Amino acid sequence: MKVPIDKKSIQSLITWEELNERLNDEIRWVTTSSTVPSIHLISPEGDKVDPQYFSRDNKPHKMRIQELWDQGFTLVLGTVDNLTPRLSQFTGFIEHKFQRAVFTNLYLNSGKTDSKSFQAHVDKTDILICQIMGQTIWGVAGQPEQKLDSGDSLFIQKGILHEARPVQGIPRISLSLAITNHKQPLVDRFSVKLT
Ligand SMILES: [Fe+2]
Repeated sequence: MKVPIDKKSIQSLITWEELNERLNDEIRWVTTSSTVPSIHLISPEGDKVDPQYFSRDNKPHKMRIQELWDQGFTLVLGTVDNLTPRLSQFTGFIEHKFQRAVFTNLYLNSGKTDSKSFQAHVDKTDILICQIMGQTIWGVAGQPEQKLDSGDSLFIQKGILHEARPVQGIPRISLSLAITNHKQPLVDRFSVKLT
């Protein structure tokens, strides 16, 4: 189902300019943590990439990531709660609304190839997808295929098979919020500072 959240609040969560700034900051991005900002890559076929493939000295390597991005790999940024004040505010709003802790992931794709963001799968938690920019076509078991436009959101119940397909030629940014079963926030958004 599509969720009635104001389109403009979703569209303004983060811009490409802000993302470029944050990625270029002297931030210690990591590849292994789920509690501090982290970077992962997914191949155009939808498979998660071994972090060693884009790391040097166990740290994400900017030039290598850029190369893979240009080849159509999807960039997944985890625990992005503090990336912008609006992301922090929005994550807090969703946690308050559901009374559950929420994990955040941003999915970025250049749209240069017809890349998948992941293979069809089920999740152990409910998921709220927010299309910040561009478009994504979603297949959710038991529902007709649906296209999310910039500002749209989609709620996927836990245990329901789903897959995403980008619209070729259109760069996109999607926010995925995993609504956990924990009542207390697992990440202190105001202590994980990016600067
Ligand atoms: Fe999922």
